[in-house]
Amino acid sequence: MSFEGEIDRRRTFAIVSHPDAGKTTLTEKFLLFGGAINVAGAVKSNKIKKTATSDFMEIERQRGISVATSVMGFEYQGKKVNILDTPGHQDFAEDTYRTLTAVDSVIIVIDGAKGVEPQTKKLMNVCRMRNTPVIVFINKLDRPAQDPFDLLDEIEQQLEIKVRPLSWPIGSGPQFKGVYDLYGEKLNLFSGQSKQTVEESVEFRDLNDQQLEEYLGTSPADTLREEVELIQGVYNDFDQQQYIQGELAPVFFGSALNNFGVQELLERFLEISPSPQPTEAHERIVSPREDQFKGFVFKIHANMDPNHRDRIAFVKVCSGIFRRNTPYLHVQAGKKMKFPGPTSFMAAKKSVVDELYPGDIVGLHDTGNFKIGDTLSEGEKIHFKGLPSFSPEMFRYIENSDPMRYKQLDKGIDQLMDEGVAQLFKSKTNGRKIIGTVGQLQLDVIQFRLKHEYGASCRYENLPMYKACWIESHDEQELQEFRKRKEQAMAYDKHGREVFLAESPHALRMAQEKYPNLTFHFSSEF
Ligand code: G4P
Repeated sequence: MSFEGEIDRRRTFAIVSHPDAGKTTLTEKFLLFGGAINVAGAVKSNKIKKTATSDFMEIERQRGISVATSVMGFEYQGKKVNILDTPGHQDFAEDTYRTLTAVDSVIIVIDGAKGVEPQTKKLMNVCRMRNTPVIVFINKLDRPAQDPFDLLDEIEQQLEIKVRPLSWPIGSGPQFKGVYDLYGEKLNLFSGQSKQTVEESVEFRDLNDQQLEEYLGTSPADTLREEVELIQGVYNDFDQQQYIQGELAPVFFGSALNNFGVQELLERFLEISPSPQPTEAHERIVSPREDQFKGFVFKIHANMDPNHRDRIAFVKVCSGIFRRNTPYLHVQAGKKMKFPGPTSFMAAKKSVVDELYPGDIVGLHDTGNFKIGDTLSEGEKIHFKGLPSFSPEMFRYIENSDPMRYKQLDKGIDQLMDEGVAQLFKSKTNGRKIIGTVGQLQLDVIQFRLKHEYGASCRYENLPMYKACWIESHDEQELQEFRKRKEQAMAYDKHGREVFLAESPHALRMAQEKYPNLTFHFSSEF
């Protein structure tokens, strides 16, 4: 196949959700369709259960599994599908956001009973930052769900994106009869028997046909007719361009657990979703169709075996063809590197590959050379735009508790931060290191990994801070004054930028009022 053909047939995306909405279940059903797995339950365990926060062996086991499932590639109807997995646990949200820098589109799963949840909003905000096209799948229709029109309004308002339903539910919970495929004009009936198999759908173009009553019964048939008429009155025809520009989210309904509405979603998704898109670099925009290979590291995974500190760096191919054993420039390190055993991830198995195309993810064996965001190229010194850092929620001073091994501790902290396990700040006044995380689990993982991989011991000291704010001002005098007054609360991030650690919402408000010419940003890019 031609180079262009290989690009056009690739779909690289992530399935994301607020925990428990059904991301894992939907991913698994997609893999079943793609023949990448044979039995339900195969990816189920890629999830750190909430109860396991202190069970380190479990965390380690999960990490091992997630290497295998970090990228799940399969062929479906002539398309090469690459699903990038994201962590199931909320404390690793930053990992998820970073993975979103490597996808061309996203499917957001929403629980039909719960609607938009806090993490759904955060994920959408990250998608919006890069205009990533988003499809919404409203899940769990086999359970009593909110009114579908209310759900659509909620999505429009809370996720700040226009919506267009492409399928429509017929009842929910015990009254759930199925979905009407508005795009393909088909009726998919739900029997609740289809967990492993897919039921045939019937073509049904004219909803006024009396046969609808036979399938659904009088009242649901009438409701469906009314609702579809309303949809056609309220919503414009689906505009694929608007979707690809990230301005419109097509919405599907179904039940991932029951494998219902999933095949329709997968097939429509493959039809309408974008093939690999241009990637923004600081210097210019890189088209996937350029001859020369370019790619960036979006994820680093440490080896589970504590005796081998090597890691796998996951690189997204942005342009050209990545070839095995070919010297590439590691732009940030300024040196050439060759990779004898690049791995690709097909059918949840790793295998060594010779060539990879734009949209593909390649796993490179790394002995500590890579950081998140690093670029590989055939010589061009290009720097892809990453994602800003967001303010952590928890802050701790990290201290050495084994004086004989402070070097190991320093090295361990540096490498874990390169992997993006947490954020590191340095206090301006006393130079102490501060770890910023989303949740307690990250702190536990850092402590555990420092011990097991670096032989270093650390302890944490509580730092009761509310938010880290990146500050900016055109008023140099006011900035100086602020720095002086807040000296104790000032720190530097990993790039040496100034950060104000606000103690409480009140302290932040006071600072904002007192220094009106200062802007306080909750993310590092502005
Ligand atoms: P997540 O990755 O988004 O966190 O969600 P996950 O797929 O793990 O699903 C969360 C729970 O919701 C699971 O139940 C799963 O079986 C259930 N679920 C997913 N899709 C549907 C659906 O369409 N209908 C219904 N009724 N339930 C659904 P669990 O009890 O937490 O886990 P498990 O014991 O089934 O593994």
